[in-house]
Amino acid sequence: MNKKKYNPPQKLSLNANYKSLKDYSEEHKRSLKENDVFWSEKAERIEWFKKWKKVSDIDFTLPKIEWFIGGKLNVSYNCIDRHIKNGKGDAIAFYWEGNDPSESKKLTYNQLYDKVCRFSNVLKNLNISKGDRVCLYMQMIPELPIAMLSCARIGAVHSAVFGAFSSDSLRDRINDSKCKLLITQDTGVRGTKNNIPMKSNADVAIEQSPSIENTIVVMRTGEKVHMKNKRDHWWHEQIDSVKPHCEPEHMDAEDPLFILYTSGSTGTPKGVMHTTGGYLLYADYTFSSIFDHKSSDIYWCTADIGWITGHSYITYGPLSNCATSVIFEGVPNYPDFGRFWDIVDKYQVSLFYTAPTALRALMKEGDSWAQSRDLSSLRVLGTVGEPIKEPEWKWYYKIIGSKKCPIVDTWWQTETGGIMISPLPGATPTKPGSATLPFFGVDPVLLDENGNEIIGNNKNGLLAMKSSWPGQMRTVYGDHQRFKETYFTQFKGYYFTGDGAKRDEDGYYFITGRVDDVLNVSGHRIGTAEVEGAIGKADGVAEAAVVGYNHDIKGQGIYAFVTLMTGIEVNSAIEMSIFKTVTKEIGPHAKPDKIQFTSGLPKTRSGKIMRRILRNIANSNLEDMGDISTLADPSVVDKLIKGDQK
Ligand code: WT7
Repeated sequence: MNKKKYNPPQKLSLNANYKSLKDYSEEHKRSLKENDVFWSEKAERIEWFKKWKKVSDIDFTLPKIEWFIGGKLNVSYNCIDRHIKNGKGDAIAFYWEGNDPSESKKLTYNQLYDKVCRFSNVLKNLNISKGDRVCLYMQMIPELPIAMLSCARIGAVHSAVFGAFSSDSLRDRINDSKCKLLITQDTGVRGTKNNIPMKSNADVAIEQSPSIENTIVVMRTGEKVHMKNKRDHWWHEQIDSVKPHCEPEHMDAEDPLFILYTSGSTGTPKGVMHTTGGYLLYADYTFSSIFDHKSSDIYWCTADIGWITGHSYITYGPLSNCATSVIFEGVPNYPDFGRFWDIVDKYQVSLFYTAPTALRALMKEGDSWAQSRDLSSLRVLGTVGEPIKEPEWKWYYKIIGSKKCPIVDTWWQTETGGIMISPLPGATPTKPGSATLPFFGVDPVLLDENGNEIIGNNKNGLLAMKSSWPGQMRTVYGDHQRFKETYFTQFKGYYFTGDGAKRDEDGYYFITGRVDDVLNVSGHRIGTAEVEGAIGKADGVAEAAVVGYNHDIKGQGIYAFVTLMTGIEVNSAIEMSIFKTVTKEIGPHAKPDKIQFTSGLPKTRSGKIMRRILRNIANSNLEDMGDISTLADPSVVDKLIKGDQK
């Protein structure tokens, strides 16, 4: 591949936690060789009420994954009380920047303590105790991390549902984990949308969610919403009538901390379950190392807290490090395309973490939006969620970072809890498009189709992990068998990521994308089976097959091939009804970008859809369709290429 390397800036390396590639390599080797010793040293970063008896107990064949067995701790205590005890109570935990530039707030660690303790008492008053599940359906408001920390404080398990999900998706997630309480807000604001109906979506969901006993509603906009007597409670009213202290529950290292649903290759999302000790340590230590965090830094991650990036790198990782972060409610293009850079300028952000899709969208608008703001505070730039291509990498490096900030391209997954493959900003030379090298304690391998390890570099393969790390998910909530089948069955003895990757001559990893039926649309993971299921519910639709195609801004776009029932005409009304159905079933982010109506889908004689052919058509790779002789009706391919609808 032989791509140009970009060395870490000397000034940064000098004061960095890891200063050279040699530092990194030695520590990485040691971290694998003496894995338990390594992690037990690192575990001293956080405060334990009781020390663990055994560092790890791992068996991928069962699978059984346990870290810091017998240890007791509390995540909210580690993220708040610990810092106050160390005299940092007046440090800012969060700057909150509203959707409208005129709205902002700040919250010190002392204030966060008060809010979290009070809200923990509110939860207790509403009959929530250790082990109960609490669903969070909110936008980017300070009450969201406050609610997460309060759950953690009393040992309740939170399940956050991204605020764009529809009421049907919300209902299914609530029911899967039988949440007792739902926390939401009246309405939400995002960009030009100033009335996102959070509470009324929640109302529809709860009608079919028998486990919900109560709801708590944050008044964000003051829009009128229906409040059901005795069931629905206003956050601000509840919080005033409780004590400002709440003892943190002593949690076992392996007690669940949260569930977060993510899409897989089947129609139903899985509840990824993370536990207390290992997850916190992994989020804490990766944040500190990969962003080279110092107490003087102002950190901003633009992700939504409703996804894993927000859990690990807005809430838990930064707070555990006593960081000062920005939480942003809005979008990059409101009120104009300079908004991100206004915020960097306003708060003097030094560590900035965003998604390639946002960079592509901003790059398209020209350089002047960034160049007219003061971005000199920036020190480290990060990306996450999807492969970053060379043009946006270089734009980020030159225009945003003025060639003085290393870019940490961080590869990881909801399942991994924290970053797995990434440069260390003071140590690792970077190459555009590469997440570079594994983090400490991470042992990636490339496998061939038969599960043999591919030795040597300059090879493509399937990305798997040979050993566990503390942040690894522990189970699929309520379905350990599915956990086993999804990640540990295809290749015995490994955790299989579902991604393909290439390793170059320096051992650097270039992630090539999912090898299963999962799409990555603007950094959001969407299962093709889910979208197909949703389209299939639209009136008149007989069958749908969904594939990804290269999209300039979104990375991948959603391309749907749809057959209609006999006698149903192709027209714009049917297209509208498909959009509406997908929005209702999943949410607007899963709407197809393109729909091609067709009289037939390419199926094998056993009835399996050959997606390879559809992917080629969607991406206009028409030259080589490969072997189509196994199709029941090979003439379908020509019709699809010509776009015949009949
Ligand atoms: C999938 C995980 C990790 C938080 C956000 C997404 C893709 C993630 C990168 C990267 C190339 C990446 C992978 C992965 N992905 N980061 N730096 N380079 N691809 O979490 O929704 O669980 O999705 O996102 O395909 O498997 P997620």
